[in-house]
Amino acid sequence: MDYLKIQGESIIKGEIAITGAKNAALPLLASTILASNNVVISNLPNVVDIKTLLKLLRMLGAKFDHKVNDITINTSELDKTEATYDIVKTMRASILVLGPLLARFGHCEVSLPGGCAIGQRPVDLHLKALEHMGAVIEIKSGYIKATAPDGLKGATIVFDKITVTGTENIVMAAALAHGNTTIINAAKEPEVVQLCEVLRDAGVEISGIGTNTLEVKGSGGKLLEFKPFSVIPDRIEAGTYLCAGAITNSVLKVTNVIPKHLEAMLVKFEDMGFKIEREENAVTILPATKIKPIHITTTEYPGFPTDMQAQFMAVCTIAEGVSIIDEKLFENRFMHVSELCRMGADISLNGTVATVVGTPNKLFGTDVMATDLRASSALVLAALVANGETKVHRIYHLDRGYDRLEEKLTNLGANILREKE
Ligand code: EPZ
Repeated sequence: MDYLKIQGESIIKGEIAITGAKNAALPLLASTILASNNVVISNLPNVVDIKTLLKLLRMLGAKFDHKVNDITINTSELDKTEATYDIVKTMRASILVLGPLLARFGHCEVSLPGGCAIGQRPVDLHLKALEHMGAVIEIKSGYIKATAPDGLKGATIVFDKITVTGTENIVMAAALAHGNTTIINAAKEPEVVQLCEVLRDAGVEISGIGTNTLEVKGSGGKLLEFKPFSVIPDRIEAGTYLCAGAITNSVLKVTNVIPKHLEAMLVKFEDMGFKIEREENAVTILPATKIKPIHITTTEYPGFPTDMQAQFMAVCTIAEGVSIIDEKLFENRFMHVSELCRMGADISLNGTVATVVGTPNKLFGTDVMATDLRASSALVLAALVANGETKVHRIYHLDRGYDRLEEKLTNLGANILREKE
C-alpha cells in the first residue's frame, strides 16, 4: 500500500486546473445503459471510482474506447444484468446501475452496497421508489433482485429524505418508464442537474431541473440517442484545493470551475477572513490577516456540502478561536477527528457536533491513517502546515476521488512524496 510523506510548514502558491466531477461522471456513465448509440464523454476524471464503474460496465457487456479523460462507450451489446458483490463492495455508487438496468431489461440483480466508513448508508429509498414504479424487489443473500416484466410505470415518488444517488437512480428509471413520473423532494446537486440535462438532450422530456420537484416523461422502453457531453468540473476537488490555500494562508487559484457551484464554501472562506476573487471560470483565494473560526452545518445543495466538512475542519484547527461543525447528513463522518487530534488538534465531539478549538501553528507531524475519501484529503491539508513530517497511510481512499493530488500540490510548492509501505 502507498503512503504520502509530507513535510510541513509549506507555502504554496499558483494555480490548479480542476478536472471533471467524480459524482457527476458516475451517474452519467451508468446512464449510458439507456443509450442506443455510441456515447461520447469528455472531461472524465481519472480516478479509481471511475475505473471501478467502467470495470462493472465492461462486466455487463459494455464496449468502450477510453483515453484517460475521454471515452466513447457503447452498451448496445450489453447482455448481463448482475452487478456482483466483489465490485459493489468497493464502491457504493455501483448502485447507480440498478435503475437503468431494471428500466432497460425488466430485471437485474445488484449486490447490496453495504455500509462504508461514513455510515450505514442504506438504499431503502431507492428500492421503495422503484416498487412504486411497479418493480418487484426481493432481497436475497445480500443481493437486490428486481423485476419489472412489463416495464416500469410512471408514478409520483416522494423521497422521505433527499438522496443524491436515489434521485439519480429514479430519474434514469423514469426516463424509460411507461408514462410520467413526478419526483418530490428530489436532490438538486449540480451533478443531478447535469444528469437531467444529458437525458433531456437525449430526448427525454424533463421539467423542474434544478428544483426539488422533477417531472419525467418516460420513453416507454425506447432507448435514447445521447449527444456528446463534457462532465462538469468537480466542485469538491476545487473546494479541497481552496482549503489548501486557506490552511497555508497562500494565494491559490483554481481554474476550470463553475463559481456558482462553490458559493456556500466561498462565503465560509470569507467569513474566516480570506479574500475570494470570482471570475467566470476561476476562483482565487487570498490570505487572511487573521484566520477566524466559523460555524458550519452541512446540508443538501446549495447549502454547505458534507463532502467539504472534513477539509474545512482541518482549516479550523489552525484558526484563532472556537469553530462549531454540525454534520447533519451522515451519522459517522468524523473519522478524521481522531487522526487530526493525533496531530495536536483540539477537537471534541458531541453527537453530530464537533467543537474545534483552533490555535495557529498548533499541529505537528506524525503518522496518521486515512479512513475515507474526504477524511484523507483533510489529513493531507493538515500535514501541509504541521511542524515536521507527516505520513498519511492507506491513501487508496484518496485515489478514489482525487487525481494525483500530491503531484498537483507539489507543483504549487508543497513537499510531498508518494512512497510504498
Ligand atoms: C452522494 O452519496 C455522494 N456520492 C456522496 O459523496 C455525498 O456525500 C452524498 O451524496 C451527500 O451529498 C455520489 O454522488 C456518488 P445520499 P449518496 O443518498 O447518494 C440517507 C464523496 O465523498 N439515505 O444523498 O450515497 C443516507 O444514509 C461521496 O464523493 C437513506 O437513508 O448519499 C444519508 O444519511 C461520499 N436511504 C442521506 O440519506 C437511502 O435509500 C444522504 O445520502 C439513501 C440515502
